[in-house]
Amino acid sequence: MTTLEQLWPLFGLRVTCGPLELRPVRDDDLPTVLSVVAGGIHEPDQMPFLFPWTDATGEELIVNTLQHHWRSRAELSPDNWSLELGVWRDGVFVGSQGVRTTNFRVTRTGETGSWLGLPFQGQGTGTLMRQAICALCFDHLGFTELMSGAFTDNPQSRGVSRKVGYVENGLVRYKRRDALAVNQQLLLTPEAFVRAPHPVEVFGADGVRRLLGIEDPDEVS
Ligand SMILES: CC(C)(COP(=O)(O)OP(=O)(O)OC[C@H]1O[C@@H](n2cnc3c(N)ncnc32)[C@H](O)[C@@H]1OP(=O)(O)O)[C@@H](O)C(=O)NCCC(=O)NCCS
Repeated sequence: MTTLEQLWPLFGLRVTCGPLELRPVRDDDLPTVLSVVAGGIHEPDQMPFLFPWTDATGEELIVNTLQHHWRSRAELSPDNWSLELGVWRDGVFVGSQGVRTTNFRVTRTGETGSWLGLPFQGQGTGTLMRQAICALCFDHLGFTELMSGAFTDNPQSRGVSRKVGYVENGLVRYKRRDALAVNQQLLLTPEAFVRAPHPVEVFGADGVRRLLGIEDPDEVS
């Protein structure tokens, strides 16, 4: 019997790093994801996201979140893809760590994005999950660099980027909730990458590379 992982290799991807496991969110996980989202990701007077998806409430937030996951699968192609990995800490779902890119086979760059439920923040998980996805990107998917961005009033996200070795890469001015918000752009290279204190183990990267049309970095001279 053919498994769903064989048909859709993203579902076969699994990354472990100490107490963390990262893997693509499956439909069975979505109720758990939604309960953590409903519990809050930031205080109401803050907005850490460029696209303010957490301003939606109730059923609108539920529908938007479900469609976001389904859309990222439906629109995936070698030229435009995003990996939205759920994060489990000691078996408990705590948040999400993603990376997205366009024209990757030429650009070899992409941008990470992440969130944790409020009860799970400030315990080092954000740093560990970023280190895990950066290891996946550099060691298994052939990234040359990784970008991130954080509003200047988001010390947690900037703290993670600093600890992982990103350097500041310019400021961008955005309109956020009708006011100016400045976003700090960040850049990470493999040389500057500060790795996790635990080994990062990756399972199923070959199927993901096949789906995304990426050659195995170990086989590139
Ligand atoms: C951003 C986020 C993923 C970080 O995860 P986290 O688990 O809270 O972060 P960590 O505990 O690994 O590290 C946070 C680091 O930020 C720094 N930091 C945290 N709060 C800070 C503050 N108020 N002032 C200065 N630095 C601060 C610290 O350096 C800390 O590192 P330390 O362990 O050496 O003290 C999480 O806070 C979150 O989901 N926030 C809401 C959504 C969000 O902002 N997403 C990112 C959008 S760009």
